[in-house]
Amino acid sequence: MMVSDALADKVVVVTGGGTGLGRSMTEYFLTLGAKAVITSRKKDVLEKTASEMRASTCGEVLPVVCDVRNYEEVENMLQAAVSHFGKVDILLNNAAGNFISPTERLSPNAFDTIIDIVLKGTKNCTLAFGKHWIAKKQENTVVLNIVTTYAWTGSPYVVPSAMAKAGVLAMTRSLAVEWAKYGMRHNAIAPGPFPTTGAWTRLMPGDMPERLDVVKQVPLRRAGDHQELANLAAYMISDFSAYVNGEVITIDGGEWLQDAGQLAFLDQVKPEEWDLLEKMTKAVKGS
Ligand code: HXC
Ligand code: NAP
Repeated sequence: MMVSDALADKVVVVTGGGTGLGRSMTEYFLTLGAKAVITSRKKDVLEKTASEMRASTCGEVLPVVCDVRNYEEVENMLQAAVSHFGKVDILLNNAAGNFISPTERLSPNAFDTIIDIVLKGTKNCTLAFGKHWIAKKQENTVVLNIVTTYAWTGSPYVVPSAMAKAGVLAMTRSLAVEWAKYGMRHNAIAPGPFPTTGAWTRLMPGDMPERLDVVKQVPLRRAGDHQELANLAAYMISDFSAYVNGEVITIDGGEWLQDAGQLAFLDQVKPEEWDLLEKMTKAVKGS
């Protein structure tokens, strides 16, 4: 979608960049000329992904192990990125954890685990990078946060994730205003269903995705393609979106609106029934 050098000279750090959507977005950024740091907890996964990305894109990728729950590890990861590439321009907060579970089955530690990865992890990275950019007086920097549409609707069975993503969205909008004076932009993307091993195979094992018919909830009747998300993310971190600040952009085929729409059940009405309904309502009006 973007011109081929849209991200030339940009250095982007992608948390959770070794797998799933983080990996797909990073791969596209590299093809647009960016240099990338991918971080997560698993060294072997990061190194394998980095070498595959170098082969497929000829881009420069630095894998750095970092648990985003630990502020000191985040500071070390930032230093490693700056030492290697000389600077960092963009932070993509993508790392997350989630359980699909009745809330009463969650232990206090399970609840904390999700809040710590998603909310505290995003806070840790944003605070460390923000302080660094402010101290260096580095402008034209970007923080892009991956949230979910239930950040604003809430959702049963994923309560810790919904609470944490809502907090991330509040931080996005708050800092978009507070830190704009430092030349920083803060935005978010809320993806709908995009098949990944982490979100689908692990959260819904076996034939659950088929049995629950996840795509039936999507008006466009399909899951998202990773490239579609990568296109949007590339735009949001590029200078082409320089005036977009404090925004959350949904990319979900209309999923959350279908659930929110009070009359969505009318999808089940057949065409011939619409004819009948029209006749009947007109007849009532005329009487
Ligand atoms: C309930 C669970 C559980 C489960 C673990 N726990 N799995 N509780 N249901 N399925 C409990 C454990 O018993 C433990 O509590 C606590 O959670 C911490 O478990 P650990 O295994 O020690 O945690 P950790 O090693 O830090 O691993 C974190 C993780 C892991 C979240 C459990 O799976 C992970 O990192 N996943 C990352 C991948 C991921 O989740 N991706 C999905 C993102 S998708 P006790 O009390 O026993 O000590 C997304 C949006 C999807 O966010 C939207 C569509 C649905
Ligand atoms: P994923 O592949 O499981 O991605 C999660 C990544 O986060 C993994 O690379 C994981 O790596 C990393 N991570 C987890 N805990 C971490 C920690 N403590 N420190 C550092 N990294 C950590 O799942 P995904 O589907 O691509 O999800 C990516 C993002 O999209 C998430 O923010 C998710 O909430 C969002 N999202 C996805 C969907 C979807 O349908 N796929 C829908 C809505 C939103 P390690 O385990 O190696 O640490």
